[in-house]
Amino acid sequence: MISTDRDAAVELLRKGDVVALPTETVYGLAANALNAIAVAKIFEAKERPHFDPLIVHLPNRDWLERISDVPAEHRQLIGRLADKFWPGPFTMVLQKREIVPDIVTAGLDTVAVRFSVHPLFAEIVGALDEPLAAPSANRFGCVSPTTAQHVLDELGGRIPLILDGGLTEHGIESTIVAIQKGRIAILRRGPITHEQLTHFAEVANSVATAKISSPGQLPSHYAPKTQLRLVDNVEAFPPQKNQRVGLLAWSGVFRSTQAFAAVRNLSDRGDLREAAANLFRYLRELDALDLDLIVAERVPCEGLGAAIMDRLERASHR
Ligand code: TXA
Ligand code: MG
Repeated sequence: MISTDRDAAVELLRKGDVVALPTETVYGLAANALNAIAVAKIFEAKERPHFDPLIVHLPNRDWLERISDVPAEHRQLIGRLADKFWPGPFTMVLQKREIVPDIVTAGLDTVAVRFSVHPLFAEIVGALDEPLAAPSANRFGCVSPTTAQHVLDELGGRIPLILDGGLTEHGIESTIVAIQKGRIAILRRGPITHEQLTHFAEVANSVATAKISSPGQLPSHYAPKTQLRLVDNVEAFPPQKNQRVGLLAWSGVFRSTQAFAAVRNLSDRGDLREAAANLFRYLRELDALDLDLIVAERVPCEGLGAAIMDRLERASHR
């Protein structure tokens, strides 16, 4: 379980599995950020009750503009910050590109990007040559792990491999910033300090940390503009004749679906992992159709289903 086999770690990541890896801050639970099903396994192992956006770790600087859209007005500032603090315990929230699956960003238009300096992490992500999504490798609500043993205590039996890199250097998570109108907003305090950042631009007041600990609650968190209604049984909800209604189904195809203007099926085979991977993308697609209503079927409230239901409930209560 705890291992020093780097090749095995790369191999697991390549085939869409999760691996715990050391970074200079805390251990992360990593999966290929471009593989939505692999990312769903992160949420499953961590038992998060809702989906939080994850940090995407780059193999190298070239990947920055492949996953995020760096606006011309902030290009210089972002470049200077990256030159100074990357690789290192510093995360920037930027506009996301299409290539990043919605489950990674929990439906947000932005993506948090980091470039770790840890030699083991750098070696693995470099060998994979694809970005890695990685939250801290603890169960939901527990403290972040700073040794391989901590990860084993938290996630033993749930993940195939923990790569041992000894004690992590910083022991607290990376500093997270967003660039807003030429200013740096600190979203999470960390090893790169407010003082250090003032050399680059005006540093705006940071958001209260309590909010950040539950980013699913942040006002900026993605919410569909179309009204969403949760139902147990789709058959009992035939759309009105003059209404354009979208259906977000859980599994299987229903007799009555032709009455809906659009249908998205979270998982044909009733697989919660696949459903989690599809959730935000489908919500977004339905939301873009200017429907009068989206009807969403409840999913079983077990394992990842609880996280899916939490997100659907949040989206339906506005
Ligand atoms: O040091 C670290 O950053 C560690 C190591 C493993 O890299 N990772 C880490 O990830 O702390 P996690 O998931 O435990 O915390 C990531 C935080 C989330 O709580 C969320 O608030 C913020 O990053 N975040 C991610 N994407 C965001 C976005 N698009 N906008 C705002 N905040 C975001
Ligand atoms: Mg965490």
